[in-house]
Amino acid sequence: MSWGLENRLSRILKPADGKTVMLAVDHGYFLGPTTGLEQCCKTVVPLVPYADTLMLTRGVLRNDIPSSIDTPIVLRVSGGSSVLEDDLSNETILTDIDECIRLNAAGMACQVFIGAPHQAQTIANLGRLVNEGERYGIPVIGVTAVGKDMVRDARYLALASRIIAETGGHIVKTYYCDDFERVTSTCPVPIVMAGGKKLPERDALEMTWKAMQGGAAGVDMGRNIFQSDSPVGMIKAVNAVVHGGASVDDAYAVYMDEKAATGITGPGVGSAVTADDSRKI
Ligand code: R5P
Repeated sequence: MSWGLENRLSRILKPADGKTVMLAVDHGYFLGPTTGLEQCCKTVVPLVPYADTLMLTRGVLRNDIPSSIDTPIVLRVSGGSSVLEDDLSNETILTDIDECIRLNAAGMACQVFIGAPHQAQTIANLGRLVNEGERYGIPVIGVTAVGKDMVRDARYLALASRIIAETGGHIVKTYYCDDFERVTSTCPVPIVMAGGKKLPERDALEMTWKAMQGGAAGVDMGRNIFQSDSPVGMIKAVNAVVHGGASVDDAYAVYMDEKAATGITGPGVGSAVTADDSRKI
């Protein structure tokens, strides 16, 4: 691994503990104006100081994020389908390595659809991206896609995560499941947990705590933060679990304290999720 690639990886996984709180706000690349991200600048900018990394598309980066921020960027570079299609797996690489370098990306993220119609194409996307990333020193995060028909269990997620690692992915992003340790223990690269659909805040913090206990290197979380009624409260609480080893109760208190201090500042969809947001992921 080159010095540059190691250096960029250490901007994502913080050297002090090897963990990360990535804020995922890339949903619009196939969901359009997702609840909470209708105007990304309003939602995302207040969260930037609490995120170790931002995961987003180049469009949101260019249009909504000030270039003066010091937070490392992971660019979502795969895409090509939308929520209107039944099969989301027909993805290609839309953002090339030159653009990632120009935008000073610390990493590139690519979705891999194991068990879906375009499985081979998406594994090939990842392989090509890793080849280019190794050439220029940019790590690749492979994202295990979970379509509505795929079972989100340890057997499936371990299979998908391992294929990403064997293809050369430097970090795997996957979903939480029971027996999560089976997923992390059979994957030779760090795993970050995606949050999935919006849950009540305490449940989301409990899932985060369990993932960390199960060997996660942190989170790459979106809806459970930006759809909260207190997005800053939630990202602070998630940070307390990931970097501070906080219990669920202590982390929930962090969220509640922030909400009490600042009031309701986010959409706060609670456990109700809008149809478009929950249909596929
Ligand atoms: C998934 O395809 C999206 O790109 C998100 O980055 C991912 O699902 C993580 O966000 P969330 O925590 O909302 O699931």
